Amino acid sequence: MHDVLHVNGGLPLHGEITVRGAKNFVSKAMVASLLGDTPSVLRNVPQIRDVAVVRGLLELHGVRVDADDVAGTLSLDPRNVEQAHVADIDAHAGSSRIPILFCGPLLHRLGEAFIPDLGGCRIGDRPINYHLDILRQFGAEVDKLEQGIALRAPNGLVGTKIHLPYPSVGATEQLLLTAVRARGLTELSNAAIEPEIMDLINVLQKMGAIISVDTDRVIRIEGVPRLRGFQHTALPDRIEAASWAAAALATGGDITVKGAKQPEMTTFLNVFRKVGGEFDVHDDGIRFWHPGGELRSIVLETDVHPGFMTDWQQPLVVALTQATGLSIVHETVYENRFGFVDALRGMGATIQVYRECLGGHPCRFGQRNFYHSAVVSGPTPLEAADIEVPDLRGGFSHLIAALTAKGTSNVAGIGIIDRGYEHFLDKLDALGAEFSLS
Ligand code: EPU
Repeated sequence: MHDVLHVNGGLPLHGEITVRGAKNFVSKAMVASLLGDTPSVLRNVPQIRDVAVVRGLLELHGVRVDADDVAGTLSLDPRNVEQAHVADIDAHAGSSRIPILFCGPLLHRLGEAFIPDLGGCRIGDRPINYHLDILRQFGAEVDKLEQGIALRAPNGLVGTKIHLPYPSVGATEQLLLTAVRARGLTELSNAAIEPEIMDLINVLQKMGAIISVDTDRVIRIEGVPRLRGFQHTALPDRIEAASWAAAALATGGDITVKGAKQPEMTTFLNVFRKVGGEFDVHDDGIRFWHPGGELRSIVLETDVHPGFMTDWQQPLVVALTQATGLSIVHETVYENRFGFVDALRGMGATIQVYRECLGGHPCRFGQRNFYHSAVVSGPTPLEAADIEVPDLRGGFSHLIAALTAKGTSNVAGIGIIDRGYEHFLDKLDALGAEFSLS
C-alpha cells in the first residue's frame, strides 16, 4: 500500500467537505446491536478502518452485516450470535480498543466472551482496569490470559452501584452496554457524558432500555430482560470537523464542513474564535476560515465534556504555532499526548513540554513525571520536513503541519489516518491541496 504522502505545502485550503457519523459513536452503536433480538439499522456510517474492524468482529460472532457504503447505512442482524474461535478473534489483536466493549453484550448473549489484546493510539498507558472492575462488579469472572481476556457469567449479570475514579468514556460505555440487560438496578456516579455517550443512550433507549442521566453526572439504569433492534442516524464526527477547522486556520484557508453541528462543538467554537478564527454556522454545516491578520495565543486545558476535547488539542496546536505570543496547553485527559510536537519542533515550531500542570488547575498527572503541558511560542513559519505519523490525531496534525509548511514534506505512515478520517485524501484534493503518494 502507498504509505508516504508527499505534500507540497504553503497553500491555503479552500472548499467544502462533508463529515459523516462520529467514529467514537458508530463503533459503539454497532456493538449495541448485539444486545437486540431483532436487526438494527445504523445510518451516517463513515467508511473508516475502525468501522471495518468492528464489523469483522461482529461477523466472527455470527452477526450478519450488510453495508451500503455510499449511503453510509449498515444493517446488523444479531439473531444468530455465536461464540467465535479464539484464533479468529486473536487475528484482530492490536487493531482497536473497541473489542473491550463486546464483553457485556456477549456475556448476556452467550454467557462467555473472549477479548483480544487491544490496540488504539499510543497516547498514554490506556489501562482497562475500570472496565474489568465494572464487569467483575456485575458478577463476571475475568481471566487474563496470554492472548487476551476470557470472561464468563454462568449465573447472569446483576445490576450494581459504581463510582468511577475518573469519568472515562469507555468505562461509562462498558457500564451502559452491560447494565441495560443486567438483572435489577445499576447506578454509575462520576460518569462521562460526552455527546457520543448520550447518542449511545439514545440508541439503547430505542432498543427498549430504561436509562436516566441526572445533572450531577449520575446515570441510573433499570435492567430489562430483552432488547430489540434500533434504527438510528449517527451524530456527526465533531473531532473530524474540528480537525478540518484547524487545518483552515493553520493554512490561512476557508473550509466549509458540511454535516458539522454547533451543539457538540460549542467549546471548540469559542476557542477557535478566541484564537482569531472566524466561523459561520449554517443549517447543514459550519464554515471555518482565517480572516487574515494575526492569530492570538491562548491558555487552554483539555477536559471531559463539556470541556475542550483532548482529541481537538493536537490539530489545534499546529494552528497555535502560527499565533502571536505564548500559548499554554494543559492536557488533563491523557498523560502522554504531546509526542507529536517533536516533529513540529523539527519543522521550526517553538514548543516546550513540561511536567507541571500549567493550565491553572492541578490535574491527576501533576508531579508524576508526565510531560503533559506545552508552551507554544509563535508565530513561527513551518519548514517542510520528512515526518512519520505517530497516532491518529497526532498524524492528522502532522498532515496539517505539512500543508502549512512551504515546500515538500514527506509524511510516512499515513495509513493510520484512515482509522478515523474518511476519504481524507479525496477531501484534501477537493480542498486544493497538492500531494502525491508513493
Ligand atoms: N482510564 C483508566 N482506566 C480505564 C479506562 C480509562 O485509567 O480502565 C484513563 C485513561 O488512561 C485516560 C482517561 O481514563 O487517561 C480517559 O480515557 P477514556 O476511557 O475516557 O478514553 P477511551 O474510552 O479509551 C475514548 C475515545 C478517545 C478519546 C477519549 C476521551 C474511543 C474509541 N476513543 O477513549 O478517542 O480521546 O475517549 O474523549 O471512543 C481518538 O478518537 O483518537 C481517541 C483517542
